[in-house]
Amino acid sequence: MKFKVALLPGDGIGPEVVDSAVSLIENISEKFNISFSFETHLIGGSSYDKNGTPLTDEVLSKCYDSDAVLLGAVGGPKWEGLQHNLKPEAALLKLRKALGLYINIRPAKVYAPLLSASTLKPEVLNGTDLVILRELTGDVYFGQPRGYDDEHGWNTMIYTKEEVERITRFAFETAMKRSKRVISVDKANVLECSQFWRKTVHEIHKEYPQIQLSDMYVDNAAMQLVRYPKQFDVILTQNLFGDILSDIASMITGSLGMLPSASLGSKYALYEPVHGSAPDIAGQDKANPLATISSVGMMFLYSFQMDKVTELIEEAITKTLSAGYRTADIYSDGDTLVSTSKMTKIVIDKFNEIYDEQALGVFTL
Ligand code: IPM
Ligand code: MN
Repeated sequence: MKFKVALLPGDGIGPEVVDSAVSLIENISEKFNISFSFETHLIGGSSYDKNGTPLTDEVLSKCYDSDAVLLGAVGGPKWEGLQHNLKPEAALLKLRKALGLYINIRPAKVYAPLLSASTLKPEVLNGTDLVILRELTGDVYFGQPRGYDDEHGWNTMIYTKEEVERITRFAFETAMKRSKRVISVDKANVLECSQFWRKTVHEIHKEYPQIQLSDMYVDNAAMQLVRYPKQFDVILTQNLFGDILSDIASMITGSLGMLPSASLGSKYALYEPVHGSAPDIAGQDKANPLATISSVGMMFLYSFQMDKVTELIEEAITKTLSAGYRTADIYSDGDTLVSTSKMTKIVIDKFNEIYDEQALGVFTL
């Protein structure tokens, strides 16, 4: 068994957190007797600097040819003034669209040892375990026409029926394995596009009578996420609203540096931390690698169907945090402050400890 993983470290702290992920995957490869081949490619600002475009066709074709793509982060002040389609962010959007990654899974759960790292009260957070399912290939992100001139700026919020139907089905299927509750988030009181979204979600709901479906306006959802996050289980939402709500939800975990994501389509899959390229701390071995490490966990679940590995990764993260190790973003008095590489090493050690305790031996698929 050999899996091909395309690595797209990108900009800022991207290369550091992707390095962490690779060390972990190499360790898993040894323990579980599976081989991986890695190919590293440029994306974002680093690709623009070398090739004059944030994503080349060649890199895209390497992604088509992989079992999974792991991305670090793109962007930085250096490229902010560029024309829209040359910006690092444009590469990510093009990649999502080209690979047909219409499902973006962003789980936000509380790691008990991090309860005090969040700015939110522990009693509000405790026990929260929700997942945001963000539609990723439609909405105002991709709608035409778009543009601006001296007097106007415009974008088009548009969804096709098929786009809403397929993400909705995924949400209901996900909910069947969880608490059977879905909250669909839209802005149907103002936007026709959201009215269409809501209508379509309810049509598909008829196929899933076991699911309890409710609707929530996005402004209210943003408030409810910080007021009483435990009320949520599966959140299904449009591309733009999901982008915003997932940054809010990251504070449930204590830091944006903790939130992993998987983007799936019918053929391809991409894994990336939700956080950005953090240019202010790039190259200093300070970044929190846990979101990327947890994204690797999602890769083992969705791309390699090895949920045992996912479980071990999550346990290793919890053990590391319980032992008091923290990168700067989640550090508070009394913790042990560690670097990116040290944090990675500890997670791998913990992974191996749990592996040995459970005497797993060589795992065969
Ligand atoms: C995210 C990011 C991207 C988005 C940007 C970088 C294009 O914020 O993945 O959440 O808006 O989708
Ligand atoms: Mn975002």
